[in-house]
Amino acid sequence: MVNNKKDPIEIPQFPEPYWRESVNLPNYDQLSENIHVDVGIVGGGITGITTAYLLIKQGFKVALLEAGELLNGTTGHTTAKITAQHGLIYDELIQHFGEEKAKLYYQSSYTSMQFIKDTINEGNIPCDFSTQDAYVYTNSDKYISKINSEMKAYEKLGIDGEITDSIPFDIPVKSALIMKNQAQFHPIQYLKYMVEYITKNGGQIYEHTTATDVENGDHPHILTSDGYRVISKYVVAASHFPFYGGQGFYFARMYPDRSYLIGIKSEKDYPGGMYINAEQPTRSIRSTSINGEELWLIGGESHKTGQGKSTMDHYQALQQFAQDKLGMKEYLYRWSAQDLTTLDKLPYIGPVTEDQPEVLIATGYRKWGMTNGTSAALIIADIISGKDNPYKELFSPSRFHADPDMKKFTQINADVSKHLIKGKLEYTKTKIEDIKEDEGKIIRVNGKRTGVYRDKEGEVHLVDTTCTHMGCEVNWNEGDRTWDCPCHGSRFSIAGEVIEGPAKKPIKKVNENMT
Ligand code: FES
Repeated sequence: MVNNKKDPIEIPQFPEPYWRESVNLPNYDQLSENIHVDVGIVGGGITGITTAYLLIKQGFKVALLEAGELLNGTTGHTTAKITAQHGLIYDELIQHFGEEKAKLYYQSSYTSMQFIKDTINEGNIPCDFSTQDAYVYTNSDKYISKINSEMKAYEKLGIDGEITDSIPFDIPVKSALIMKNQAQFHPIQYLKYMVEYITKNGGQIYEHTTATDVENGDHPHILTSDGYRVISKYVVAASHFPFYGGQGFYFARMYPDRSYLIGIKSEKDYPGGMYINAEQPTRSIRSTSINGEELWLIGGESHKTGQGKSTMDHYQALQQFAQDKLGMKEYLYRWSAQDLTTLDKLPYIGPVTEDQPEVLIATGYRKWGMTNGTSAALIIADIISGKDNPYKELFSPSRFHADPDMKKFTQINADVSKHLIKGKLEYTKTKIEDIKEDEGKIIRVNGKRTGVYRDKEGEVHLVDTTCTHMGCEVNWNEGDRTWDCPCHGSRFSIAGEVIEGPAKKPIKKVNENMT
């Protein structure tokens, strides 16, 4: 528990993002028949919704399928910073790919930021949009030179920035790099406008509809778990981890991270700006308004999904930081998000493989989904409508750069092998009767590794912990009450249902009588 001499601050029992709690979204039915459209989009986050919005504006017939509820994945759990300052990235991009490509990456983010701003103005969308400077700060000597190199990269690329030696918090800082005139907003209020536009203009939206595969004939068909088909000319996989990867081996070309966010009230006034540190553990800070007051959003603590310490420890670390440095007085929200990073840190946007140009994917945003997700939608809408797009090549999923791809590919897949073996050999003495209420643990049932969660009513829920993707062993995520796979980031509910891919099938339930 967090140590503090003041009265203990109550921790929210359940993870719930402020964004979703503060907006009523419409509900949509499940798909219950075969349908014909021009474009079938899978995924109800910023990418899928923006793509549908753009295509409907151009007269396409579109259906959007979401496995759960709209905006309840990474988009609903974001920090919602709209910025081209994606940590320290531009010097690295110049080193690996040269100035021209680094500039394209900046321009794609800038264009997306501008698109969001224009859409808000055009639709007069009340979404708490504000222009803010973005800061990357450090208190580590090692990162001072990196910040200096990043500033040089800004100069080369014509990015408006400057270095300062302080930020307006009681946090020790040796150097900080500012990118001027970035922005923040309420992502669900913004996207709700698009959702309403889509349905008012003939677009179809289906929730609780899981797309499982693509069948390739004259045109690609999306198949759903209930046996229905979306017959279309184009398929867009905007499902975070692509629900369909063809022969693209995306599970071996990306790694999943989880990170955490808490929403607090502070004794202090928020000074403006959006902040993130350069070193580990990450600390991200911004504010939003809640009933005329300031809600401070403190994020960070990222780690590979399904690996490391108890996930509640990550929330506690953020709480400690907020109490020590930011004058926290109330703890209103906590939530976590999953992000995917590609081998070269640039998203994969475009045809799933070179020989399937009608199946388009968008993934691997490395935590910067507001701009990268919008860029993906702009690029995909251009591809489908036959227009050129200056960023198409940069993000092509079929690209390969020996440096840094080879090194990262080896690292990612060595980590997977390690966890595949480790999970199988794990020994546990825990018995089912040792498990307390609201606790999840691993036990052995007839020698087989089994996950047990005892709910608040005392009922136990048992699952076979072998992940249905490629057989790694899932681990308990205490903060979210889920079973998370350490290999490629699949996540399952306490009943074993898939929350996040690449797994497509639930993990098996185990009968309590077998224990
Ligand atoms: Fe690949 Fe679990 S996500 S084995």
